[in-house]
Formats: sequence, C-alpha cells, structure tokens
Amino acid sequence: MADPKQEQRDRFRAEDPASGPMTTDQGVTVDHTDDSLQAGERGPTLMEDFHFREKITRFDHERIPERVVHARGAGAYGYFQPYQSCAEFTRAAFLQDPSVKTPVFVRFSTVQGPRGSADTVRDVRGFATKFYTSEGNYDLVGNNFPVFFIQDGIKFPDFVHAVKPEPHNDIPTGASAHDTLWDFVSLQPETLHTIMWLMSDRAIPRSYRMMQGFGVHTFRFVNARGQGTFVKFHWKPKLGVHSLVWDEAQEAQGRDPDFNRRDLWDTIEAGAYPEWELGVQLVPESEEHDFDFDLLDATKIIPEEQVPVQPIGRMVLNRNPDNFFAETEQVAFHTANVVPGIDFTNDPLLQARNFSYLDTQLLRLGGPNFAQIPVNRPVAPVRNNQRDGFHQDEIHRGTNYFPNSLGGGCPALADPDDPAFRHYTERVDGRKIRRRSPSFADHYTQTAMFWHSMADWEQKHIVDAFRFELGKVGAKEVRARTVEQLSYVDHALAVAVAEGIGVPAPQERPNTPQPTPSPALSLENN
Ligand code: HEM
Repeated sequence: MADPKQEQRDRFRAEDPASGPMTTDQGVTVDHTDDSLQAGERGPTLMEDFHFREKITRFDHERIPERVVHARGAGAYGYFQPYQSCAEFTRAAFLQDPSVKTPVFVRFSTVQGPRGSADTVRDVRGFATKFYTSEGNYDLVGNNFPVFFIQDGIKFPDFVHAVKPEPHNDIPTGASAHDTLWDFVSLQPETLHTIMWLMSDRAIPRSYRMMQGFGVHTFRFVNARGQGTFVKFHWKPKLGVHSLVWDEAQEAQGRDPDFNRRDLWDTIEAGAYPEWELGVQLVPESEEHDFDFDLLDATKIIPEEQVPVQPIGRMVLNRNPDNFFAETEQVAFHTANVVPGIDFTNDPLLQARNFSYLDTQLLRLGGPNFAQIPVNRPVAPVRNNQRDGFHQDEIHRGTNYFPNSLGGGCPALADPDDPAFRHYTERVDGRKIRRRSPSFADHYTQTAMFWHSMADWEQKHIVDAFRFELGKVGAKEVRARTVEQLSYVDHALAVAVAEGIGVPAPQERPNTPQPTPSPALSLENN
C-alpha cells in the first residue's frame, strides 16, 4: 500500500546536487568555489564576490535555536495499524480500520542535555509520535516514564531551571549531579515519584527500541455519539524493556556518545525494524472519582491491577530520515495537535503544555508557517484563511476572509453535521482560584508503591544512584532534606541513602499524605 507521507516527502525532496554543476541560490552557475575573488594574487577579497558572500552567509545562518528541553534526539518514519476498530470509545479515523496503515514520525530524545550531549546519561527519554492521519495530524508527545515531576505546568520553568546546569558556569551536564535539582526536589515533594523512576534503571535505557512510552496525562476518547472515556496511552516495545547498568552507561558515554542514536539508525538500515504495541487504559467518565488519587494528577499512574492495559494496535519504524536537520530537528510536536475523537482533560500540566509547544516553536522554527515544513505537513488537506508571515511557502490566490460574497475565502463547514473536530462539551464551573487541588496532595503512596515493586537488585541500583547523585551535592542541608523526604517513602531506603552520603539517618515516618511544603498551597487569593 502506498505511504502517503512518503509520496508527499518525495514531492518535496531537493534536487540531487550531483546531477549538474553548482549554482548560487539564484540559479546562476558557479565557475569555481575554492578561492575568493581577490584584487590581485595576494590582494584583499572583493565585496563584489557574491558567491563568496552568499556561501559564507548561508553557513553563518545554518543553526536554529535548539529545543529548550529535549534538544538531543533521533527520529524515524514508520506506520501505525490498529488491531481492531475502537469505535466504541473513539471516532478517531486512524483507530477504526485494521487494514489502514497511518504513517508516523517518531522522535526519541533526552531531556536535559544540549544537542551535542551524550545519549546514555541518566535522564527521562522523550517518545514523541506524529500520526499523519486522514483527519489531520495527531501528536502523542510522551516520555518513557508514566509520571512527571510536577503537577502544574506553571512550575515547569522552575523545574527546568533547576535541572539545567548551574547559571554561573554551565556545569555540570548529566542528569542530576548538582545542587539546584536536589534543592528543588527536597522542597517540592511532588517530584518524588518521578525522581524514583529517574534513579531507577529506566533512566538509562539500553536502546530506544527497548523503551516503553507513555502519554502520561489522562486524555479523553470521544466516540461518534459524543460520549467521553478517560484514556491513558502506553507504548510497549516488542523487544521488551532493557536498561544499561550505570557502569555500562558511563563507559558508553565515553566510547560512543551516539550509542542510542546509532543503534536506532543501524537497526533500521539493517531491516530489523523496531516495533511497539499501543495499549490503552480506559476509565468510564462515571468512574472518574473512584480512585484514591486524582486522574488529573500527572504524578500518578493508574495501577494496571485496577485498570488493565488493552492492546489496540502496533507501530513499526522502518525508514530513516534523509536529512537530520530537515526532519528530526525541524519536526514540531504539540500536545494540542489532536484529531476528532481525542480530546483533553483538565490536567493542569497538560493545559500548560497545550500553550507551550506552539509558543516555543514560533521562535524555534522562525514564525508561524512551520506546519508547511515537509516533516510537519499533514497528509490531510489544509485549507484556511491564514496568510503570509515568515517562511510562507504557499502562493495563495483570492480573498482570505469569511463570510465572503465576492468569491474566495475559506468557509467553515456548510453542514453542521459534517465530520469536524468538536470540543468535548465538558461541564466546567467554579470560582477562579490559584490553588493546587487537595486531591493532588499525596506524594508518597505511589512513590512507595514503586519502590516496593522493585526486585532486590533494582532497589540496590536505586540506592546506588541516589548515593552517586546526592553524594555530589555540595550543600549538606540539601542532602539531609532529600533524605528526610525519602523517609516518608521508605525508612530503609532513606537510611541506606543517608549512610552512603554522610548525613544522619532520619527518623521513621508514615508514608501517608503530608501537607506540601511548597508555596503553591499558600497562594490562595480568594
Ligand atoms: C519538548 C514531553 C511537560 C514544554 C518535549 C518533547 C517531549 C516532551 C517528548 C520533545 C518533542 C520532540 O521530540 O521534538 C513532555 C512530557 C511532559 C512534558 C511527557 C509531561 C507529561 C512539559 C511541560 C512543558 C513542556 C509542562 C511546559 C509547560 C516543552 C517544550 C519543548 C518540549 C517547550 C520543546 C518543544 C520544541 O522546541 O519543539 N516535551 N513534556 N513540556 N516540552 Fe515537554
């Protein structure tokens, strides 16, 4: 079956430069590119050498800003195919017909390091999938952990500033071996559940092909009758989940900083196509409040014993990009890129993301027309009255407003019953309030659950990781405060970490919900 994204890409491919002599960007053939035009054999370079000036100028402008997070990544094309129709829960076209393959582009990434950093650092991995569906692009912008460090997106700048190298000297790289992150963690216990994942072997995946992916938030499926169902997305790798051990990860950083990127590229080139199964946890709207945590809280999982993961389809990655910059660097994922049948919830982290991605991409990709870049371009037709702006590739004709009696202009739907994205009509009312919901207050129960679900050797790796990372923190009070936090998770864990980093063992504490010492709770303004 023809792959519509591949056909579209073929139409956009630049001409092979080897198929004729070199030209300038204006199409003028160049006679010689090795020497600049000079006034005499040993004289100064002349301003009139337009080829020299164009060549250097183009080189000077080759870089664009790197992503503010997830700067280092690797991507590949492939397809997604559902196992069966999901019509009972969602009307999304790409989840209806098992014979339909939907093209995808996936970008895996580390979060903290810059573009040139090593692959095998201790970090979360991004797992972002763009589905080029017949109804427009759907982006599932996930991670390889099912939970996130913060509950409300307004904390994201604080969290990322704490995670990044310290402002005065830009040292160190690597996930966490610095005071600022641990200072933040020790003061913001909502981070703890994800910090446990970060200290576990999940944070040093052996291969992108051997990583789970998670949508993290609770999203909403909406069926043709307009009924909503809460949904959590899971990618499960066919090869199973495998990690490096810490010594291997460090050695790989030195021997081959491209360890994960090379593995993905080489296996796809060799025809050993990586594959994932997409699974969903479904919760009827009527059961929203049946859990002892809040479905809108991205620091929580829905335990699989409570809601099993149902497999709904598979994804295969079978084609490397032709050009890293054009495709992997310029791809723009956005949580708000949804299609009919998939909708949001009021998760305050998701709501913030729905603002942040487009906003940052307007800067990173130089203006409002980046959806026209081939890797971002939907295979579904695009028609609207949006015009002009930097990097406009289309030559629009006619007028560009609606309603319009003079011809031209793109109308909204003629028939209100025709298929289109319609926002889920969730009832929303309440007083404006700047306060974290009390239903988000328990930071320890699931953190402890994660710790206790680990085998002995996994627990040892976690303790070793805490000792290694916290042991590098200069501020002793930060070490001690973090260990205090761990004592609410598990006393033995806290004692084991304390012993390794030279701080007193904390007293035993219950891992019941504790008031958050974060200023967030005290900011109530009404
Ligand atoms: C980039 C995942 C939370 C802002 C990314 C990418 C992934 C990701 C996978 C890389 C996309 C790519 O490959 O191009 C997540 C997950 C989150 C989360 C799973 C929590 C569940 C947030 C929050 C914000 C945010 C709360 C802001 C409020 C950004 C920004 C980028 C980014 C600005 C760079 C995008 C670009 O330059 O194209 N995120 N993120 N993220 N994320 Fe998030």
